[in-house]
Amino acid sequence: VRAFFAPKRLAGRKVLITAGPTFEPIDPVRGITNISSGKMGFALARSCADAGADVTLVAGPVAQPTPRGVRRIDVQTALQMREAVLANVLATDVFIGVAAVADYRPATAADHKMKKTGGEGLTIELVQNPDILAEVAALPNPPFCVGFAAESQNLDTYAAAKRAKKRVPLLVANLVQDGMGGDTNCVVLFDDAGRHPVPAGAKDEVAQAIVAHMAGMLRPD
Ligand code: CTP
Ligand code: CA
Repeated sequence: VRAFFAPKRLAGRKVLITAGPTFEPIDPVRGITNISSGKMGFALARSCADAGADVTLVAGPVAQPTPRGVRRIDVQTALQMREAVLANVLATDVFIGVAAVADYRPATAADHKMKKTGGEGLTIELVQNPDILAEVAALPNPPFCVGFAAESQNLDTYAAAKRAKKRVPLLVANLVQDGMGGDTNCVVLFDDAGRHPVPAGAKDEVAQAIVAHMAGMLRPD
């Protein structure tokens, strides 16, 4: 009942979110990925939809149900995620990059399942993936961009540096030990005003706090 009467703080806003890991193929049966579950990105999609936004969610390979009312586009690789984002970013008010995009992909993927050869090791050449968030933030008329920073140490220094480098007004920093893969998270928000710790809690609660903070930063339309 409370949610029904609460003001819809994102009513009329278009929000685009990336979530989950990406999967970068090595051959038809193998690839490089990471332990992201997609839970934080899906929780944010749910919170934005609850707040009245028109939400598009670009998801890497995850086992998460699509939140009600959210438009979902499934992708595998970072290049596919970038394509889906660029195809949907027009007229978007807010972009939230939650995905744990693989920083590198194999330079080539083998057409057939690779066979073991001899007793030697194997070296796979990797090339860097494009930075989707930085690219969206650098668009001529960018949406309000929110980044996530996954760190395993030096949270404050690394997060502040990442916010400046990617030129995003709001950055959500979390220690991977606290959040990645699990049901709870502990994050700190960084914006022009400084650092704002969010009480640790379920990812849905943390998502609501992030959305409330973000909604307060949007220009009135
Ligand atoms: N991101 C992205 N595209 C990439 C890499 C990252 O859009 N190719 C986004 C993530 O979704 C996140 C933010 O950039 O919102 C930060 O991701 P993170 O992995 O923490 O930072 P990186 O810039 O990749 O730096 P590093 O992994 O070296 O710490
Ligand atoms: Ca990275």
